[in-house]
Amino acid sequence: MFAFSADTTAPKPALYRELHDAACGLTSGESDAVANMANIAALIWQFVPGLNWAGFYRVVDGALVLGPFIGKPACIRIASGQGVCGAALASGETQLVADVHTFPGHIACDAESRAELVVPIIHNGHVVAVIDLDSPTQGRFDTEDAAGLQSLAATLAPLLGPELRCAT
Ligand code: SME
Repeated sequence: MFAFSADTTAPKPALYRELHDAACGLTSGESDAVANMANIAALIWQFVPGLNWAGFYRVVDGALVLGPFIGKPACIRIASGQGVCGAALASGETQLVADVHTFPGHIACDAESRAELVVPIIHNGHVVAVIDLDSPTQGRFDTEDAAGLQSLAATLAPLLGPELRCAT
């Protein structure tokens, strides 16, 4: 059993530090990328309040393919440049969207989603996956959420590549 206690009322920087440490501990010594992404999706769900979807899309042959996640079933393949996730892949930059209804080309996997945060995971200069968080609350994510997820993405990058160790 893995028991992590998440104080979801903590200030965001502290919350994301705890999430980061838990993710590092949970993935330590494990080389299977799918298992690591699955456990980290579960940790994000446990630590970050107010979500209706949390998970990964992996880059396969230049497009995004659904990875481990928590939430309703989602679209499986997303082309580069398509929707919020595809924009993160095409640009290599975090996409912080307060209201997905205003984002051109947004892909609605869950009609309840209103805000979205997508952070690319970059390894050796290439986007290898993205972390995608959705919330039913407009404006749910801010720059502190983005910074916390970016730190997690930097930690995860080697876990999805050949080195397979936690970058602390
Ligand atoms: N809304 C995303 C699609 C993925 S789901 O939110 C899980 C997008 O526009 O890329």
